[in-house]
Amino acid sequence: MKKTILTGIRPTGNLHLGHYFGAGQNWVKLQDDYDFYLEIADVQALTDNFNDPEKVRENVDEIVKDLLAIGIDPKKVHIFIQSRIPEIAELTIFYSNLVTVARLQRNPTVKSEILQKKELFGNEGESITYGFLGYPVSQAADITCFDGELVPVGEDQAPLIEQCREIVRKFNSIYGDVLKEPEGLYTETKRVKGLDGNEKMGKSLGNAIFLVDDEETISKKIMGAVTDPKKIKKDDPADPDICMVYYYHKLVNKEENLKTICEECKKGERGCVQCKKELIEAMNEFLKPIQEKRKYYDENPDEVKRILEEGHVAAKEKAEKVMKTVKKAMMIDY
Ligand code: TRP
Repeated sequence: MKKTILTGIRPTGNLHLGHYFGAGQNWVKLQDDYDFYLEIADVQALTDNFNDPEKVRENVDEIVKDLLAIGIDPKKVHIFIQSRIPEIAELTIFYSNLVTVARLQRNPTVKSEILQKKELFGNEGESITYGFLGYPVSQAADITCFDGELVPVGEDQAPLIEQCREIVRKFNSIYGDVLKEPEGLYTETKRVKGLDGNEKMGKSLGNAIFLVDDEETISKKIMGAVTDPKKIKKDDPADPDICMVYYYHKLVNKEENLKTICEECKKGERGCVQCKKELIEAMNEFLKPIQEKRKYYDENPDEVKRILEEGHVAAKEKAEKVMKTVKKAMMIDY
């Protein structure tokens, strides 16, 4: 029997190249070999967007279409919406007794996110909600509600997987051997730098290329990309290894073009404007099949609805089964 994979994504914005080369491609690779549940984590997205429900609602549809566009196959992957599975919320309540507040405050992912919030909103502990502090508990419910055995995530999520494993062990030690202890699947994934050279590409950093960006947007963004600051004139030699334009050529251009680009740049035989224009062309070419697929789903919303419905039915069935055994073990199966 195939092992079960569970992973999730917060619907707070469209997918960008960072998502594509990171999680996205990895998930597409995994979908053939596992029973794959892919959660659109709208409830989790609301933990820090509770005052902006429209944003989360819109992005549920956007993210689903983006995922389908990059090649997530709905025949192989159960795509479902978190808020439609109340068993997850129920499990979260049960688990909340099995984890201390101190332990959550020590969770490195939570800790660094709290620090980020403090930088943004000032030093008010008050701005940290109960829901935010507890989201690792909810994420443990996300995983175990579907008997998730493997969880493909980035290394930044490792503390959340560890927290989940602790909750599972605690639960099983009290109520019997009911829950599966999941493992993180930290496959080597590429981290894509931003157009500005920042180590991370992100919507809030304003340095991202989104899969849905049109030609004009792409052109504007690439024209503003950071190049070797020592290159002033068109025929100055430069170092492609510190140039974001070359960095992106390497991601999306054909292997056979790279050597020429690199050599011409080093010799001062290639102006940045020309080089950027070629990148714009390569980027559009690269995004074309993704955007064509995406267009199909834009034009066929009923198909997207059907896919989500099928994913939901599969997820609901699994969640109900797990919930039954959980309630029995906790002696609340009235
Ligand atoms: N926290 C994850 C992120 O921000 C998203 C997520 C929600 C998730 N539920 C999950 C990941 C369950 C793995 C398993 O990327």
